[in-house]
Amino acid sequence: MTQARAERAAGSGLVLAGRPAAREHLRVVGVEQIGAYTLLRLERGELEPGVPGQFFMLEAPGRVLPRPMSLCQAPPGELAFLIDPIGPGTRALCALEPGAAIHVLGPLGNGFDLGVERPLLVAGGIGVAPMPYLSETLGGPPALLGFRSDRHAEAARLLPSAEVVVEPRLVTELLPEDPGGVLACGPTPMLEAVAALAPQAQLAWEAPMACGYGACYGCVVEIDGRYRRLCVDGPILSGCAGKD
Ligand code: FES
Repeated sequence: MTQARAERAAGSGLVLAGRPAAREHLRVVGVEQIGAYTLLRLERGELEPGVPGQFFMLEAPGRVLPRPMSLCQAPPGELAFLIDPIGPGTRALCALEPGAAIHVLGPLGNGFDLGVERPLLVAGGIGVAPMPYLSETLGGPPALLGFRSDRHAEAARLLPSAEVVVEPRLVTELLPEDPGGVLACGPTPMLEAVAALAPQAQLAWEAPMACGYGACYGCVVEIDGRYRRLCVDGPILSGCAGKD
Protein backbone atom coordinates (compact mmCIF):
# COMPACT_ATOMS: atom_id res chain seq x y z
CA MET A 1 0.00 0.00 0.00
CA THR A 2 1.41 3.43 -0.90
CA GLN A 3 1.90 5.98 1.87
CA ALA A 4 -0.87 8.17 0.43
CA ARG A 5 -3.25 5.23 0.29
CA ALA A 6 -2.32 4.11 3.80
CA GLU A 7 -3.00 7.61 5.11
CA ARG A 8 -6.30 7.72 3.25
CA ALA A 9 -7.37 4.45 4.85
CA ALA A 10 -6.22 5.60 8.27
CA GLY A 11 -7.95 8.94 7.89
CA SER A 12 -11.34 7.74 6.70
CA GLY A 13 -14.15 7.34 9.17
CA LEU A 14 -12.99 9.95 11.71
CA VAL A 15 -15.67 11.53 13.86
CA LEU A 16 -14.47 14.80 15.41
CA ALA A 17 -16.70 16.76 17.80
CA GLY A 18 -19.58 14.57 16.63
CA ARG A 19 -19.10 15.30 12.95
CA PRO A 20 -17.58 13.13 10.21
CA ALA A 21 -14.20 14.28 8.98
CA ALA A 22 -11.05 12.83 7.47
CA ARG A 23 -7.36 13.59 7.16
CA GLU A 24 -5.50 13.16 3.91
CA HIS A 25 -2.27 14.11 2.20
CA LEU A 26 -3.47 16.10 -0.81
CA ARG A 27 -1.56 17.22 -3.88
CA VAL A 28 -1.57 20.82 -5.03
CA VAL A 29 -3.06 21.01 -8.52
CA GLY A 30 -3.05 24.79 -8.99
CA VAL A 31 -2.02 28.10 -7.41
CA GLU A 32 -3.69 31.22 -8.81
CA GLN A 33 -3.09 34.84 -7.91
CA ILE A 34 -6.37 36.71 -7.54
CA GLY A 35 -5.51 40.31 -6.74
CA ALA A 36 -4.02 40.36 -3.24
CA TYR A 37 -5.11 36.79 -2.52
CA THR A 38 -4.04 33.30 -3.62
CA LEU A 39 -6.41 30.53 -4.66
CA LEU A 40 -4.82 27.23 -3.60
CA ARG A 41 -6.36 24.31 -5.46
CA LEU A 42 -5.90 20.83 -4.01
CA GLU A 43 -6.95 17.43 -5.26
CA ARG A 44 -10.00 16.37 -3.27
CA GLY A 45 -9.02 12.80 -2.49
CA GLU A 46 -11.74 11.18 -0.41
CA LEU A 47 -12.50 14.32 1.61
CA GLU A 48 -16.06 15.62 1.59
CA PRO A 49 -16.45 19.32 0.83
CA GLY A 50 -18.95 19.62 3.69
CA VAL A 51 -21.44 22.41 4.28
CA PRO A 52 -20.47 25.94 3.14
CA GLY A 53 -18.88 27.76 6.07
CA GLN A 54 -17.22 24.64 7.45
CA PHE A 55 -13.44 24.79 7.47
CA PHE A 56 -10.39 22.59 6.94
CA MET A 57 -7.06 22.56 8.79
CA LEU A 58 -4.30 22.95 6.20
CA GLU A 59 -0.73 21.97 7.02
CA ALA A 60 1.44 25.07 6.63
CA PRO A 61 4.89 23.95 5.43
CA GLY A 62 7.60 24.71 7.98
CA ARG A 63 5.12 25.73 10.69
CA VAL A 64 4.11 23.68 13.74
CA LEU A 65 0.41 24.44 13.59
CA PRO A 66 -1.96 24.03 10.65
CA ARG A 67 -4.13 26.94 9.52
CA PRO A 68 -7.95 26.91 9.43
CA MET A 69 -9.39 27.77 6.01
CA SER A 70 -12.99 27.75 4.87
CA LEU A 71 -13.68 26.10 1.56
CA CYS A 72 -13.96 28.57 -1.33
CA GLN A 73 -14.81 26.35 -4.27
CA ALA A 74 -15.56 22.65 -4.73
CA PRO A 75 -15.16 21.85 -8.43
CA PRO A 76 -15.22 18.16 -9.34
CA GLY A 77 -12.23 16.38 -7.81
CA GLU A 78 -10.87 19.51 -6.12
CA LEU A 79 -11.03 21.63 -2.99
CA ALA A 80 -10.00 25.28 -3.41
CA PHE A 81 -9.07 27.71 -0.65
CA LEU A 82 -8.68 31.49 -0.94
CA ILE A 83 -5.77 32.63 1.21
CA ASP A 84 -4.66 36.07 2.38
CA PRO A 85 -0.86 35.93 2.86
CA ILE A 86 -0.73 37.90 6.11
CA GLY A 87 1.67 35.78 8.20
CA PRO A 88 4.35 33.07 7.94
CA GLY A 89 1.84 30.20 7.77
CA THR A 90 -0.42 31.71 5.14
CA ARG A 91 2.60 32.87 3.14
CA ALA A 92 3.98 29.31 3.21
CA LEU A 93 0.65 28.02 1.89
CA CYS A 94 0.62 30.64 -0.88
CA ALA A 95 4.19 29.67 -1.85
CA LEU A 96 3.22 26.04 -2.52
CA GLU A 97 3.72 24.86 -6.06
CA PRO A 98 1.75 22.37 -8.14
CA GLY A 99 2.89 18.86 -7.33
CA ALA A 100 3.62 19.60 -3.67
CA ALA A 101 1.38 17.92 -1.08
CA ILE A 102 0.07 18.91 2.34
CA HIS A 103 -2.01 17.25 5.05
CA VAL A 104 -5.59 18.43 5.21
CA LEU A 105 -8.16 17.66 7.94
CA GLY A 106 -11.85 18.33 7.57
CA PRO A 107 -14.53 19.36 7.06
CA LEU A 108 -14.79 20.87 10.57
CA GLY A 109 -17.13 23.21 12.40
CA ASN A 110 -20.83 23.74 11.87
CA GLY A 111 -21.26 25.59 8.55
CA PHE A 112 -24.10 27.92 7.58
CA ASP A 113 -27.76 26.99 8.05
CA LEU A 114 -28.89 26.83 4.43
CA GLY A 115 -32.61 26.75 5.22
CA VAL A 116 -33.03 30.53 5.36
CA GLU A 117 -35.60 32.48 3.36
CA ARG A 118 -34.34 35.20 0.99
CA PRO A 119 -30.61 34.58 1.64
CA LEU A 120 -28.30 37.56 1.27
CA LEU A 121 -24.54 36.97 1.32
CA VAL A 122 -22.41 39.70 2.90
CA ALA A 123 -18.60 39.61 3.06
CA GLY A 124 -15.67 41.88 3.78
CA GLY A 125 -12.06 41.31 2.71
CA ILE A 126 -10.91 37.70 2.97
CA GLY A 127 -14.40 36.98 4.33
CA VAL A 128 -15.25 36.50 0.65
CA ALA A 129 -13.51 33.09 0.91
CA PRO A 130 -16.54 30.87 1.71
CA MET A 131 -18.96 32.84 -0.48
CA PRO A 132 -18.43 31.20 -3.91
CA TYR A 133 -19.19 27.72 -2.54
CA LEU A 134 -22.06 29.11 -0.46
CA SER A 135 -23.49 30.96 -3.45
CA GLU A 136 -23.27 27.89 -5.68
CA THR A 137 -24.98 25.73 -3.04
CA LEU A 138 -27.82 28.23 -2.58
CA GLY A 139 -28.36 28.76 -6.32
CA GLY A 140 -26.80 32.22 -6.66
CA PRO A 141 -28.57 34.53 -4.16
CA PRO A 142 -27.74 38.27 -4.05
CA ALA A 143 -24.34 39.11 -2.55
CA LEU A 144 -22.64 42.23 -1.20
CA LEU A 145 -18.85 42.45 -0.97
CA GLY A 146 -16.55 45.09 0.52
CA PHE A 147 -12.78 45.40 0.10
CA ARG A 148 -10.09 47.78 1.30
CA SER A 149 -8.48 48.32 -2.11
CA ASP A 150 -9.07 47.74 -5.82
CA ARG A 151 -6.41 45.02 -5.72
CA HIS A 152 -8.26 43.13 -2.97
CA ALA A 153 -11.53 43.70 -4.84
CA GLU A 154 -10.23 41.58 -7.74
CA ALA A 155 -11.45 38.63 -5.64
CA ALA A 156 -15.00 39.72 -6.52
CA ARG A 157 -14.55 37.89 -9.80
CA LEU A 158 -15.12 34.68 -7.83
CA LEU A 159 -18.68 35.94 -7.30
CA PRO A 160 -19.46 37.79 -10.55
CA SER A 161 -23.04 38.79 -9.70
CA ALA A 162 -22.12 40.50 -6.40
CA GLU A 163 -22.42 44.21 -5.69
CA VAL A 164 -18.98 45.48 -4.67
CA VAL A 165 -17.72 48.50 -2.73
CA VAL A 166 -14.17 49.59 -1.94
CA GLU A 167 -13.16 51.62 1.14
CA PRO A 168 -13.93 54.24 2.25
CA ARG A 169 -17.36 52.86 1.40
CA LEU A 170 -18.48 50.03 3.71
CA VAL A 171 -20.35 46.92 2.69
CA THR A 172 -22.97 47.58 5.39
CA GLU A 173 -24.01 50.70 3.41
CA LEU A 174 -25.45 48.33 0.82
CA LEU A 175 -27.65 46.40 3.26
CA PRO A 176 -31.32 46.98 2.42
CA GLU A 177 -33.78 47.91 5.18
CA ASP A 178 -35.28 44.42 5.11
CA PRO A 179 -32.19 42.33 4.29
CA GLY A 180 -33.78 38.87 4.57
CA GLY A 181 -31.61 36.01 5.81
CA VAL A 182 -28.11 37.43 6.05
CA LEU A 183 -25.12 35.06 5.92
CA ALA A 184 -21.95 37.04 6.63
CA CYS A 185 -18.21 36.56 6.87
CA GLY A 186 -15.54 39.17 7.48
CA PRO A 187 -13.55 41.09 10.08
CA THR A 188 -15.03 41.52 13.56
CA PRO A 189 -16.02 45.22 13.17
CA MET A 190 -17.91 44.33 9.99
CA LEU A 191 -19.69 41.40 11.66
CA GLU A 192 -20.67 43.59 14.61
CA ALA A 193 -22.03 46.23 12.22
CA VAL A 194 -23.99 43.55 10.33
CA ALA A 195 -25.37 42.13 13.61
CA ALA A 196 -26.55 45.62 14.62
CA LEU A 197 -28.48 46.00 11.35
CA ALA A 198 -29.62 42.38 10.97
CA PRO A 199 -29.81 40.82 14.47
CA GLN A 200 -30.67 37.33 13.19
CA ALA A 201 -27.77 37.22 10.74
CA GLN A 202 -25.56 34.13 10.64
CA LEU A 203 -22.01 35.34 11.28
CA ALA A 204 -18.79 33.45 10.49
CA TRP A 205 -16.30 34.40 13.21
CA GLU A 206 -12.54 33.96 13.24
CA ALA A 207 -10.20 32.86 16.05
CA PRO A 208 -6.73 31.32 16.22
CA MET A 209 -7.11 27.54 16.05
CA ALA A 210 -4.58 24.82 16.86
CA CYS A 211 -6.58 21.59 16.56
CA GLY A 212 -9.88 22.52 14.88
CA TYR A 213 -12.00 19.89 16.69
CA GLY A 214 -12.42 20.96 20.31
CA ALA A 215 -9.35 19.44 21.97
CA CYS A 216 -7.00 22.35 22.65
CA TYR A 217 -9.31 25.16 23.83
CA GLY A 218 -7.16 27.55 21.83
CA CYS A 219 -10.16 29.07 20.10
CA VAL A 220 -12.30 29.91 23.13
CA VAL A 221 -14.13 33.22 22.75
CA GLU A 222 -16.68 34.95 24.94
CA ILE A 223 -19.95 35.48 23.15
CA ASP A 224 -22.90 37.08 24.89
CA GLY A 225 -21.30 36.30 28.26
CA ARG A 226 -20.64 32.61 27.48
CA TYR A 227 -17.33 30.97 26.66
CA ARG A 228 -17.44 28.88 23.51
CA ARG A 229 -14.99 26.89 21.44
CA LEU A 230 -15.39 28.50 18.06
CA CYS A 231 -14.20 25.40 16.19
CA VAL A 232 -17.01 23.28 17.67
CA ASP A 233 -19.87 25.72 18.39
CA GLY A 234 -19.01 27.77 15.32
CA PRO A 235 -17.48 29.22 13.32
CA ILE A 236 -21.03 30.25 12.34
CA LEU A 237 -23.08 31.79 15.14
CA SER A 238 -26.55 33.24 14.73
CA GLY A 239 -28.16 36.22 16.30
CA CYS A 240 -25.36 36.99 18.73
CA ALA A 241 -24.83 40.50 20.01
CA GLY A 242 -21.09 40.40 20.30
CA LYS A 243 -17.86 38.45 20.67
CA ASP A 244 -14.94 39.44 22.94
FE1 FES B 1 -8.67 23.50 19.45
FE2 FES B 1 -10.91 24.92 19.00
S1 FES B 1 -9.06 24.92 17.86
S2 FES B 1 -10.47 23.65 20.70
